[in-house]
Amino acid sequence: MIDLIQKLPKAELHLHIEGSLEPELMFRLARKNNVEIPYDSVEDVRAAYNFNNLQSFLDIYYAGANVLLTQDDFYDLTWEYILKCVEDNVIHTEIFFDPQTHTERGVAFEAIITGIKEALADAKAKYGITSCIIMCFLRHLSQEAAFETLEQAMAFKEDIIGVGLDSSELGNPPSKFKEVFQKAKEAGFKLVAHAGEEADFSYIYEALDLLNINRIDHGVQSIKSPELMQRLKDEQMPLTVCPNSNIELRVFDNYKEHNIKALLDYGLNISVNSDDPAYFKGYVNQNFINLYENLPITEEDIITLVKNSFRSAFISDELKEDYLAKVDAVLQ
Ligand code: HPA
Ligand code: ZN
Repeated sequence: MIDLIQKLPKAELHLHIEGSLEPELMFRLARKNNVEIPYDSVEDVRAAYNFNNLQSFLDIYYAGANVLLTQDDFYDLTWEYILKCVEDNVIHTEIFFDPQTHTERGVAFEAIITGIKEALADAKAKYGITSCIIMCFLRHLSQEAAFETLEQAMAFKEDIIGVGLDSSELGNPPSKFKEVFQKAKEAGFKLVAHAGEEADFSYIYEALDLLNINRIDHGVQSIKSPELMQRLKDEQMPLTVCPNSNIELRVFDNYKEHNIKALLDYGLNISVNSDDPAYFKGYVNQNFINLYENLPITEEDIITLVKNSFRSAFISDELKEDYLAKVDAVLQ
């Protein structure tokens, strides 16, 4: 099975590029940019990655992102992630970035997007990996700040396929961002939102009904509402589930408690993603391997999860068919 996981081409739909910052690169950039980090060694950094909930992770994640200052830094960050895609046979990726984390520190929007974009162009040229960029609003900040960010993004509309919503979920419901999502939709952006990761399923209803999203990020709390489960199934609304993340942030006590198999068996459109792989002990394949080693996941489940990742991607129907055919070719 591990061999099959490795061999199958995959898409990744839920990956925060800042969450792919490995401690080695964090140290290198801290030294180069003269940024203080509260760690003495790479081992020290890894030892600090011990979280009790989403917020305890976010505090460390935002501190780590302080080392990212220049266009080259964003290029290097993205390129290192692409090398992991090559290792894991991820042939299409849709990456999130959090502009506000950087523009608040004086980094230019253009430097961020250009660094990411150039690495993704090189990924296409060198490895044939296709990609899109999704800009996330930080939900602990105001809707007004999100509007300003959307305004800045308009100059780079060609480079950004969609907008999303991340950061501290509890107390920051989707309804807080209703108008800015409406405006983003009118501007032609695809819409996604983190919902039902830590907060209850009412946040998923809000994301669907008030934000009109095309995909739900996480969404694992939907299982507590039979009515919502039926709706998600009927609409085949994609849920980008991130198993390692849910374990590391204690959304579930341990892998055996994770509900991904139940969601899948019910008929929901589920994919497997790494979220913040440098912080959550592994990239996409490691997420699949952990599922396989801890849950009664079958070969058919793995194939469904992988095919869902392509079906739910923001790519043309033609490219979807191409990629699904690639999956079938491996299965032959
Ligand atoms: N949830 C919310 N915000 C985030 C996450 C997450 O899992 N990862 C990075 N930002
Ligand atoms: Zn996430």
